[in-house]
Amino acid sequence: MHISQSARTPHASSPEPDLRHHGDVEVRGMGAELTDLAVNVRSGTPPEWLRERIAESLGTLAAYPDGRAARRAVAARHGLPEERVLLTAGAAEAFVLLARALPVRRAVVVHPQFTEPEAALRDAGHAVERVVLDPEDGFRLDPRAVPGDADLVVVGNPTNPTSVLHPASALARLARPGRILVVDEAFMDAVPGERESLASRTDLPGLVVLRSLTKTWGLAGLRVGYVLAAPDTVATLERAQPLWPVSSPALVAAEACSAPRAVAESSLAAHVTAADRAHLLARLAEFPELTVQGPAAGPFVLVRLPGAAAVRSRLRGLGFAVRRGDTFPGLGPDYLRLAVRDRATSDRFATALRTALDDLGGRATGADGPGGAVRGKAADGPAADAGAATGPGPDLAEAPAAR
Ligand SMILES: Cc1ncc(COP(=O)(O)O)c(C=O)c1O
Repeated sequence: MHISQSARTPHASSPEPDLRHHGDVEVRGMGAELTDLAVNVRSGTPPEWLRERIAESLGTLAAYPDGRAARRAVAARHGLPEERVLLTAGAAEAFVLLARALPVRRAVVVHPQFTEPEAALRDAGHAVERVVLDPEDGFRLDPRAVPGDADLVVVGNPTNPTSVLHPASALARLARPGRILVVDEAFMDAVPGERESLASRTDLPGLVVLRSLTKTWGLAGLRVGYVLAAPDTVATLERAQPLWPVSSPALVAAEACSAPRAVAESSLAAHVTAADRAHLLARLAEFPELTVQGPAAGPFVLVRLPGAAAVRSRLRGLGFAVRRGDTFPGLGPDYLRLAVRDRATSDRFATALRTALDDLGGRATGADGPGGAVRGKAADGPAADAGAATGPGPDLAEAPAAR
């Protein structure tokens, strides 16, 4: 684990990653041709009942949005007072609000993680320091690595792209008076029981939890998420928002997805994902050339594979999009991120990966025999058995609207 220089002055030997590269670029306009393992939106979403609720809301479009019911529902879902909730146009809007509205002196972003928080901070004129977690430590966070006087700290949990789930207790140790601690929980609803979530905590000073409806519910195009924070922070962020930032259909989705039945549905989906992930990991264990970062807790896994760029390119020719790793600070060209899909898709992917590696004949990977090891394992032992309940969900190649 190390602290890097301000991201504005990158080290000469390591090219600065493109923070604005995201997985959607890997599949844009290619929905029909590529099976998408690059974007971590759950397959087969949004569910029919949710599409219907959103479609019904179109009858209200003549009126300006009224966020009160959504706010109430989100607050109830997390057992919080309404003043602690702010609906946003996705977690992405929240990153911009935080960067623009808060008086930050020393911002620290824990990497590797989703790059938009840092990009938003930089765009708002802040220098950003990075605490870069080490693969040798399993990308785990030692709270002592964060400078004591940092007054804004951003960390993802579970973390994209490493799939590491930090213990809530470790994150809680980062909270202190005079500091805003941002925990991006965009993928927390994909973790069975949402264990290690800080969403309902009101005792931690400066805590800001971000949630997204994008991933589990397949609403990337609707733009809806929310902030959970102390009322004064919520009020500051709200003042920085434009008027009516979240559309009526998005508010309806937030209300619907916060209802107890929806939360139960997402909880079930999290178990299915855990079982599917166990299957993907078992298939990846057949490849001595690669190492899987583990234990993985998110709906994606991070893979280290020497020569990954050539493999990624060959996989595209074979019909699969995977996420490059080199745009994440702290990773490099040897990393790929793979979305967890249903078993049939993972089986097809394993076949394609075998073909890609055989085609490249060890040239890409530099592999010289079975020396590698798959270290990853599913974080959810018992849940892995729930796989019997998993039906093969629709392939994204057949549902381009549901990336
Ligand atoms: C970790 C993480 N946080 C936040 C986001 C943004 O989510 P939203 O669609 O809610 O803006 C993403 C999107 O990829 C993400 O991976």
